[in-house]
Amino acid sequence: MTPLLRIPITHLERHFCQGQERWTGLAELPGLGVRAVLLLPDGDGGGGWLAVRNRCPHHGVPLTKGRLDAAAGTLECPSHGWLLPLTGPDLAALPAERTECGFVLLAGEKRLLW
Ligand code: FES
Repeated sequence: MTPLLRIPITHLERHFCQGQERWTGLAELPGLGVRAVLLLPDGDGGGGWLAVRNRCPHHGVPLTKGRLDAAAGTLECPSHGWLLPLTGPDLAALPAERTECGFVLLAGEKRLLW
């Protein structure tokens, strides 16, 4: 079984978009370096969070203000409107957990695609 990594997300900033709380921050991924992270509600109503790389694969703009369609599982880039599947190869969403001090990214080593 792949061990679960708990990677702290630092430099947190809170945002509101579509009436929902979002957070941005930085995560240092083993072997990959520091990545910008966007934290989104996971959409199941249970208070869970998803983390995606905060960078559009088209021209690299931040996705912080992108339109989230939780039912479809997509995030729309605010720049040119690409619809990015949250679990697709470009965003590769990972679960995140809110802690007393902020957030941690939960990743199995094989899922670190960012
Ligand atoms: S920068 Fe995101 S679709 Fe162009």
